[in-house]
Amino acid sequence: MNSMHLANQKWWDAASANWARGADSRGLWPRCPTEPELALCPKALAYFEDATGKRVCVLGSGDNQVVFALAGLGVAVTSVDISQKQLDVAARRAKELGLSISFQQADVTDLSAFANDAFDSVYTGGHVAVWVSDLQMYYSEAVRILRPGGFFIVDEYHPFRRLWKNSRDALVVENPYFERGPFEYEESAAILQPEPGPWKTYEFHWTVSDYMNAVLKTGCSLELVDEYGEDVEREGAPLHGLPEFLLIVGQKPVR
Ligand SMILES: C[S@@+](CC[C@H](N)C(=O)[O-])C[C@H]1O[C@@H](n2cnc3c(N)ncnc32)[C@H](O)[C@@H]1O
Repeated sequence: MNSMHLANQKWWDAASANWARGADSRGLWPRCPTEPELALCPKALAYFEDATGKRVCVLGSGDNQVVFALAGLGVAVTSVDISQKQLDVAARRAKELGLSISFQQADVTDLSAFANDAFDSVYTGGHVAVWVSDLQMYYSEAVRILRPGGFFIVDEYHPFRRLWKNSRDALVVENPYFERGPFEYEESAAILQPEPGPWKTYEFHWTVSDYMNAVLKTGCSLELVDEYGEDVEREGAPLHGLPEFLLIVGQKPVR
């Protein structure tokens, strides 16, 4: 694992308990198995109609809301995260919900724990790529473990969301669109109220074309691209009128 991913892993392990408290206070995760639309947008959800018994891998599973939604749909789901602490929280919650899920600690750029063609679909997104220093290795590994004909579904926070200075009334660029980083931060474990602390984290700002090219270079054909969402409540800048998420679906060619 490279040193930036190692630093991010240590921070996610340290911040996991606070992240879990945030998810508990939102109260969505217990509802996801019966209300999958809380975790998946309609266009992504459409790929999991009639998915009972299908093998799906979720990469960078975090709060595992997508994982719980898929498990509720009868999918045989595997949850992958770099942070064992994040997986421990998810495993506790899965037990509480009576869901059977396979958990695997791994860096998304090294999925050697899985065989080629092991899954019917691979899903990733919701603020994962921002932690990954090599988007191409990440997506190539994702597609390696996907069966021919399977779908690779990326649903990421839109790159336009990561550019702005904190401001109530003006959009002022802080991070130019073409600056990919790494952006180094010194943070505490108080993930919900960011403040300086002893942990270093490294973030990467991929562009729309970076995402699309990374999917295309895996050899997938492009099935769907969508930009959607307009919730700006959590934002420190007035982003009304800009998209919230970028959805890309690739299909692995049948050999
Ligand atoms: C913000 S969460 C995103 C997932 C989910 N949507 C959520 O909101 O919880 C980011 C997750 O990505 C994981 N992560 C960060 N870097 C990773 C890597 N290189 N490989 C696998 N997981 C990683 C973190 O441990 C964390 O659980």
